[in-house]
Amino acid sequence: MPRILTEHTKSLVRATVPALAEHGTAITAAMYARLFQNEEVKALFNQSNQGGEGRQTHALAHAILAYAQNIDNLDVLTAAVERISQKHVSLRILPEHYPHVAAALLAAIKDVLGDAATDEILAAWGEAYWFLADILMGREATIYTEQAAADGGWNGWRDFVVESKQRESALITSFVLRPADGGPVSRHQPGQYITLLAPIPGKSPQRRNYSISSGPNGKTYRITVKREQQGLVSSYLHDRVQEGSTVSLAPPAGDFVLARCTKRPIVLLSGGVGLTPMVSMLESAVEDGISAPLLYVHAARHGDVHAMGVHVRTLAESHPDIKAAVFYTSPRITDEQGKHYDHHGRIDIDWLSSNTPITEADFYLCGPEAFLLAMVGGLEAKGVATDRIHYEFFGPTVELSL
Ligand SMILES: Cc1cc2nc3c(=O)[nH]c(=O)nc-3n(C[C@H](O)[C@H](O)[C@H](O)COP(=O)(O)OP(=O)(O)OC[C@H]3O[C@@H](n4cnc5c(N)ncnc54)[C@H](O)[C@@H]3O)c2cc1C
Ligand code: HEM
Repeated sequence: MPRILTEHTKSLVRATVPALAEHGTAITAAMYARLFQNEEVKALFNQSNQGGEGRQTHALAHAILAYAQNIDNLDVLTAAVERISQKHVSLRILPEHYPHVAAALLAAIKDVLGDAATDEILAAWGEAYWFLADILMGREATIYTEQAAADGGWNGWRDFVVESKQRESALITSFVLRPADGGPVSRHQPGQYITLLAPIPGKSPQRRNYSISSGPNGKTYRITVKREQQGLVSSYLHDRVQEGSTVSLAPPAGDFVLARCTKRPIVLLSGGVGLTPMVSMLESAVEDGISAPLLYVHAARHGDVHAMGVHVRTLAESHPDIKAAVFYTSPRITDEQGKHYDHHGRIDIDWLSSNTPITEADFYLCGPEAFLLAMVGGLEAKGVATDRIHYEFFGPTVELSL
C-alpha cells in the first residue's frame, strides 16, 4: 500500500524548514558520520566527495531542504527524483540500504536540533523520509528492471575485457571495453555513464562513474579517463589496467541524455575531460544522421592536454550540419591556430551569443564546476530558458540554476 502523508505530518515537516535551512549541512554531516560506522554502507560512497565541506554533504542537504519546502507540491521534485534514482542505480543502491539512512538521519536531526526535535517531530520526519524513500525505491526498481530487460542488458557487475587502451593526451586515456562473456551490450543513450568497480589494495572496491565516450554500438563501450593527482581509480586505470585486463561494470545510467525528438539546433559545450559525453553524442549524431545543426565547442588549456581533437574534427568534417570550434586558453608554441585549435582564450558568452543559434538551441554542458557555473549563468543571463540548458557534473550535482 502506498504511504500517505497526513496534513498533520506535513505541517510538522513544514515547521522544521527554517531549522533545516539553518542546520541542514550540519545534520547531513552528522548523518554521514553515523552512516559510515557501517563499513558495508561506507563502501558505497566515494570518500573523496565526503567530509564537512564534501559536495555530497551539500547535495543531500539540498535534497532534504527542497523536499521539506515542497512537501505540498512534490511534482516539482520530479527531475530531482529522476537524477537521484539514476545515480543510486548506477551505484547499486538497494532497498536494504534505506533503513540505514533513515536511522542515521533521524539520530542526526536529534543530535543537531536537540530538545527542539521532539518525539512528534522525529516521528513526522520518519514518515516523510519513508514517503520519499518509497518514491525513490519505486523508480529505482523500474530502472533496474529496464536495464536487465534491454537487449544486451544486465544487472549487477559484469566482467569486461579491455580490448584497446589508447592515449588521447598527456593526461587522458581511452579504454574500449567488451563483455568477457562474448555477449552484446545494451545501447546506451548518448550522455549516459557506466560505473566501474575497481579493486584497490587495502581498500574496499571503489565505484566510479565514467561517461561513455563512444556512440551506442551494441558491442562495446569506450570510456575516456583523466589521470587525477593521487586519484585512486584513475591512477589504477592508467597504471595497472592494460589491454587484456578485466574490469567490472554496472550498466549505463544517467539522465543527461541527448534529446532525439527535437528539431532544435544542438550546442555541445565542454571543458577538459568533460568532452566525453559530448563525443558520444557527436558519434551518435553522425551515425544516425541528424536533422538539426550541431555545434561542438570545446575548451582545453593547450595541445598537450587536448584529447580526441583529430577524431572530433574528422567527425565534424564528415557531416555538413556539424561544426566544431576549439578554444585553447594557453596555447603552446607548437599549437597551430586553424589546425589544432580555432580560438585563443576561454569560451565566452558573447562569442556563444554571436556564433550559436542561442534563441532556439538546446545546450549540453560538461566540465569543471567553475566552467559550468560561468556557462550556465551566462546562458541564463542571455535569456536561454532553463529547459534548454542540460548539464552533467563529474561529481555530486550542484544546482546551478537560480
Ligand atoms: C556522471 C559522472 C561521469 C564521469 N565521467 C568521467 C569521464 O568521462 N572521465 C573522467 O576522467 N572522469 C569522469 N568522472 C569522474 C570519475 O568518476 C572520478 O571521480 C575520477 O576519475 C576521479 O576518481 P579517482 O578515484 O581517480 O580519484 P579519487 O581518489 O576519488 O580522488 C579525486 C580527487 O580528490 C582528491 N582527494 C581524494 N581524497 C581527498 C581528501 N581526503 N582530501 C582532499 N582531496 C582528496 C584526489 O587527490 C583527487 O584529485 C565522472 C563522474 C561522474 C559523476
Ligand atoms: C530518501 C533517501 C535519499 C535521498 C533523498 C538521497 C539523495 C541523494 C542525492 C541528492 C544525491 C546526489 C545526486 C547527484 O549527485 O546527482 C545522492 C547520491 C548518492 N546517494 Fe542518496 N539519497 C537517499 C538514500 C540513499 C541511500 C539509502 C543510500 C545508500 C546507503 C544512498 C547512497 C548514495 C550514494 C552512494 C550517492 C552518490 C554519492 C557521490 O556522488 O559521491 N542514498 N543521494
